[in-house]
Amino acid sequence: MKRILITGASSGIGLELAKKYSALGYQVIACGRNAEKLAAVLPAADNIIHCICNLNSRQDVLVNMCKFKKLNIVILNAGTCEYINDAQSFDSELLQRVMQTNVVGTGNCLQAILPNVLAGGQLAIVSSVVTLLPLSRAEAYGASKAALDYLTRALAIDLAPKKIDVSLIRPGFVATPLTDKNNFPMPGIVTVERAGEAIIDGLNKRRREIRFPSGFYCALKILSLLPSGLWHRLARRMVKI
Ligand SMILES: NC(=O)c1ccc[n+]([C@@H]2O[C@H](COP(=O)([O-])OP(=O)(O)OC[C@H]3O[C@@H](n4cnc5c(N)ncnc54)[C@H](OP(=O)(O)O)[C@@H]3O)[C@@H](O)[C@H]2O)c1
Repeated sequence: MKRILITGASSGIGLELAKKYSALGYQVIACGRNAEKLAAVLPAADNIIHCICNLNSRQDVLVNMCKFKKLNIVILNAGTCEYINDAQSFDSELLQRVMQTNVVGTGNCLQAILPNVLAGGQLAIVSSVVTLLPLSRAEAYGASKAALDYLTRALAIDLAPKKIDVSLIRPGFVATPLTDKNNFPMPGIVTVERAGEAIIDGLNKRRREIRFPSGFYCALKILSLLPSGLWHRLARRMVKI
């Protein structure tokens, strides 16, 4: 039985992936920070093992994640999003919280799991399409995901000799508790089921980058090729709408 470890399995994209991979016959190591919440949405079963740890605590992650050996796939998906509502009154604690969970938390997981990924295995890190363009209020979230983009691409080079394929996952908007809080239009938003299918398909094909939905990604990619001054004016206009 193949083994997959997924962080952020108590909600949204991670929960959907855990359900789908368990239905596909994998042994799923489902990570969450809240044991009761995880048990309520994804009860432990023959092929579902819970791993409870808060990514923000290196000690917690090392103690609880290191024990899972012989991993075929690892998906580092857990993350948080907070917006900077008033850039001039910059909230550096908010920046620290977001960087801590999304970047340092991912680093804690890498330290715990990388020695246990099998040759021929796969590592995937969930970033976002947000890194294609600077967006209003996304200073902290976008910066954290840009850091993950670089981290993931560099890891892909350094883990190749170990025969570990690395994928960068870049979702557009997905309907999850994370986006339920958004009070702005979310073009191209997809269901969590669709997101799960796109990720599994991309991982099966061992793609270096898994992006979806393709229409929204292409639109942002084209905008990212505009002169930066033009994007700046467009982005300013979107804020005023
Ligand atoms: N939804 C989107 O539109 C979208 C778009 C692009 C990228 N993404 C990325 O996709 C990933 C999953 O997002 P989602 O939409 O599925 O969000 P979600 O429903 O809010 O799920 C986030 C998961 O991360 C876990 N988590 C957060 N902080 C943690 C910590 N310190 N320690 C351990 N676990 C922690 C949460 O645990 P709790 O359940 O305990 O809170 C939850 O399981 C994130 O990295 C997000 O940035 C999402």
